[in-house]
Amino acid sequence: MEQSIKLMVDGKTYELPILVGTEGERAIDISQLRQMTGLITLDPGFANTGSCKSSITFMNGERGILRYRGYPVEELAEHSTFVETAYLLINGELPTRKELTRFSVMLNDHSLVHEDMREFFQNFPRRAHPMGILSSMVNAMRAFYPELPDRTEEEETNVSFARLLSKVRTMAAMSYRISRGHTVVYPRPDLLYAANFLNMMFYSPVRPYEIDPDVVNALNAFWILHADHEQNSSTAAVRLVGSSRVHLYAAISAGICALWGPLHGGANQAVIEMLTAIQANGGDVAPFVARAKDKNDPFRLMGFGHRVYKTYDPRARIMKKVCDRVLNNLKRHDPLLNIAMKLEEVAIKDSYFIDHHLYPNVDFYSGIVLRAMGIPLNMFTVMFAIGRLPGWISQWKESIDDPERKLHRPRQVYVGKNKRNYVPIDGRG
Ligand code: ACO
Repeated sequence: MEQSIKLMVDGKTYELPILVGTEGERAIDISQLRQMTGLITLDPGFANTGSCKSSITFMNGERGILRYRGYPVEELAEHSTFVETAYLLINGELPTRKELTRFSVMLNDHSLVHEDMREFFQNFPRRAHPMGILSSMVNAMRAFYPELPDRTEEEETNVSFARLLSKVRTMAAMSYRISRGHTVVYPRPDLLYAANFLNMMFYSPVRPYEIDPDVVNALNAFWILHADHEQNSSTAAVRLVGSSRVHLYAAISAGICALWGPLHGGANQAVIEMLTAIQANGGDVAPFVARAKDKNDPFRLMGFGHRVYKTYDPRARIMKKVCDRVLNNLKRHDPLLNIAMKLEEVAIKDSYFIDHHLYPNVDFYSGIVLRAMGIPLNMFTVMFAIGRLPGWISQWKESIDDPERKLHRPRQVYVGKNKRNYVPIDGRG
């Protein structure tokens, strides 16, 4: 197979190398293109641009494949826990029992949040969106947890990873409790990661919260399905901000901001809002499908479509199973599930959606899972953020360790005015 490509510019031929990944995908290496030819490439939205080589996550959008470090996400969602999957993403291999215990102990040791940080939470307006609060708090972590001079860089980095994984979960529950005017519940050392989160969210001194193993399993699967997704918008933000060599907390905070948007992680909240609007409109999905197809209407079917998947998102398929299982086990009926299924049935048979390769994505059923757990709507994207942390951390780590590491600084094609002279204000108009 051809390992280089020839490019003709102004009658001269240049040879550009082709890189081949371990799964056979091919990429033209254009890093020397401008130096050789004076040309740059233009790719708005980076739909066709690889920004790095990575050995963390493999996805194939045409075949609906997603693997973390080689392991199919279906197998991880079925058999692993979120903490074990986080270890896998960050360290590259599944942990031995001893390694997993050590990792869990570290997460437990770093699960408390600095008491002074609570003041911050309390001073945000009650109606502030938790994603805005979370990104600010994660950025503020550098002030509360400065680097310690007696630690090696590796020790410091590992502690920062544990802090993020553990404290972001505590902070998420804390912000929910404070927003409700409830007392903060501290993490318990006897509870595992997901159960601990549920307890911090829902424990009440007057009605102890019973941790349901089915809910714990569903939460582990939910987080595993969100744990990484190669160079998505928020991960690209983490890598880009991190490339300026700012500290890890600032880079992760940037990822949280990018995730917040409704075209990315904010879609899980937007899906429930859309399904609720359909319900309020009598449950007929047809007008919503028609609006999504109308070029003059900005409305889109939330939870549908993906930049990379041009077939069914494999995570959506698993999420639907998790959704059925949790509703069944909890003996709950959610009318929004019926609406979602009806919407999917109508949309995937519609030529507009077929022609545009639009299928349900991970967010389509995830909101119904979160509702069944009792998670409030404005916390949905925070739940995604907790899940995506191992991905952001492992991608940040990979970029830091990359010998080819460079400041991310794209080029542009300037299409503005040519040079003109300054006109004093009285001479304008
Ligand atoms: N509903 C209706 N039409 C859609 C939708 C949708 N959900 N998604 C894309 N399209 C159409 C666009 O109107 C456009 O049509 P045209 O070519 O006829 O003008 C075409 O499909 C391509 O759309 P783009 O926005 O260029 O495609 P892109 O790859 O950038 O879109 C995205 C990906 C942003 C996810 C898009 O599908 C979308 O907005 N979906 C809804 C929001 C959503 O669910 N986001 C979550 C994504 S998963 C995640 O981040 C975890």
